[in-house]
Amino acid sequence: MEKEKFYITTPIYYPSDKLHIGHSYCTVATDTMARYKRMRGYDVKFLTGSDEHGQKIERIAKQNGISPKEYVDGIVKWIKELWKTMDISYDYYIRTTDEKHIKAVQKIFKKLYDNGDIYKSEYEGWYCTPCETFYTQTQLDKDGKCPDCHREVEKLKEESYFFRLSKYQDRIIEHIESNPDFIQPPSRKNEMINNFLKPGLEDLCVSRTSFKWGIPVEFDPKHVVYVWVDALSNYISALGYGSDDDSDFKKYWPADVHVVGKEIVRFHTIIWPAMLMALDLPLPKKIFGHGWLVINGGKMSKSIGNVVDPKILVDKYGVDSIRYFLLREIAFGQDGNFTNEALINRINSDLANDLGNLISRTEGMIEKYFNSKLPAEQVKNPLDDEIIEIAYQTALRVEENMDKMLFSNALVEIWNFIRRLNKYIDETTPWVMAKDESKKAELADVMYTLAEGLRIIAVLISPAMPNTPNEIYSRLSIDDESLKQWDSAKKFGMLKREVKINKGNVIFPRIDIKKELEELEASLKLNESPENPEKKAEPNKQEIEFKDFEKLEMKIGEVIECEKIKKSKKLLKSQIKIGDETRQIVSGIADYYSPEEMKGKKVVVVTNLKPVKLCGELSQGMILAAQDKDGSLKIITADGEIGNGAEVR
Ligand code: ME8
Ligand code: MG
Repeated sequence: MEKEKFYITTPIYYPSDKLHIGHSYCTVATDTMARYKRMRGYDVKFLTGSDEHGQKIERIAKQNGISPKEYVDGIVKWIKELWKTMDISYDYYIRTTDEKHIKAVQKIFKKLYDNGDIYKSEYEGWYCTPCETFYTQTQLDKDGKCPDCHREVEKLKEESYFFRLSKYQDRIIEHIESNPDFIQPPSRKNEMINNFLKPGLEDLCVSRTSFKWGIPVEFDPKHVVYVWVDALSNYISALGYGSDDDSDFKKYWPADVHVVGKEIVRFHTIIWPAMLMALDLPLPKKIFGHGWLVINGGKMSKSIGNVVDPKILVDKYGVDSIRYFLLREIAFGQDGNFTNEALINRINSDLANDLGNLISRTEGMIEKYFNSKLPAEQVKNPLDDEIIEIAYQTALRVEENMDKMLFSNALVEIWNFIRRLNKYIDETTPWVMAKDESKKAELADVMYTLAEGLRIIAVLISPAMPNTPNEIYSRLSIDDESLKQWDSAKKFGMLKREVKINKGNVIFPRIDIKKELEELEASLKLNESPENPEKKAEPNKQEIEFKDFEKLEMKIGEVIECEKIKKSKKLLKSQIKIGDETRQIVSGIADYYSPEEMKGKKVVVVTNLKPVKLCGELSQGMILAAQDKDGSLKIITADGEIGNGAEVR
């Protein structure tokens, strides 16, 4: 029998800068769904990619003194590495600069023009470049800024092509109303109807002439196609729509679900369906609008400068821990606060404590009581039936929640089962049985129940945590693939009775939260992007008394040694002679000074700053430096000869 298909997509992200944990969140969730569907036997197509045109990228490339294509090539390479690090199992990566995509967009534009759905006129209004969105005067916020991101908008007046969006208004409302699953979660549906559709749609400006970095309109090349029309088309161009080989398009379209953040649900449930209607193509089955990761109530965003670097987190805690945290901590669809503290607490309680303990207790006992291999002779424990029933019910509930993309609920179900098994150990008291030779067969059965429970847990967590299951299988000597398949989680007893274990290291070590938070905050901060320094400019600080200033101890020091810190791109480690003593100081200046340049410099050091560890290296003070609006940085030195150790006042 032919497999049923499942086509799932992420947004294609702007490669205007490196991505942060918010983008990773969306991609990890989509990946989890794709893995789950593959395990359920679907023929899955999982698409991600990058949205590389537009004014914003053209400007950033210019600031960096390179061409837009060179600029995005660099970022795209970095993004692909990130997805590798996060174990993202995409089937295809689309770039809107791909020839195949460009051709498809030109075809789409032409077709809409030929049908009369696109016409030429003049645009007059406002444009938000960071959001790449047009606004009318009345749509702006009360300060005349972007109603979405509240940044400055630009006045535009240019000859433009327009798409007859207004023509599709009634059909879109009708589609949304009669397909309750189309927009998920349901709350977003009302927002679309009440805030956008009911007030009335205006025709959409779909071309620009005032910049060049875009797909030229084939029949009028001084115009480039509006980035959102370009971007949305990716979902079909990636399948070969409009090319000679459109077999994937025939097989996979319509999409089963477009996963997107809540701020772009509007583009996916109004503009995209209208485009598809105009092309006479079926609409995607579902748009899932997930919530935002916020920091102290505000959206995490590169341009605000409060981003968390996913690569650092994965390096520190491992990819499965980060994926687990993202999926478990925040209900998919709602916003959630990201804090380092919540992350470490989750790792400690759910991974180190619940799952980690269950694994190490089980393998420890099998090693101790049975010399690492269970005997075939086993006598059923009275609690087993309950455990077997719970295992089965858990698998069913996990399926139910995963089908609705309620990842957090699915994980809660699995963790309830993990906790139940830990309790089963306390209830059956194996250490008491072990003292009684006549209880050996019953003890073996208890161990088997734990091992088989662990196998089932490994299967159920596989979509969310792609690495941990292999670790569990290897400890239980499982190599038979049929014991790793989804349906095997619903069949208790597939593991053979004579379980042999290979004990390993602790999978999820406990983290010392206090120590870790200090280190983590230092390393994440130092990796903040200096690309947008103007956004971080602070208002003048509060006035202080002289006695407050006097609390600082600053001295002249001479850099006698300096080297790069291997684990970090930004940090230099200097040995600084200050009077009679030599101190080690770590500074985030590697982008501006080489170790050779630093050697011999006389610098100003704050000497009574509490020591901290940065990337595992002790830093006993701080070197003063000045940083310009455009990001350039200079070390402060003394004007002329002065002995080292001299006090600075
Ligand atoms: O909008 N929390 O690209 P983009 C959760 N190119 N998710 C977040 C997030 C946060 N703080 N920040 C970003 C674009 N995301 C267009 C899309 S699609 C045809 C074109 C995720 O780089 C979230 O999924 O601004 C959001 O919708 C997406 O990244 C936006 O990425
Ligand atoms: Mg965005």
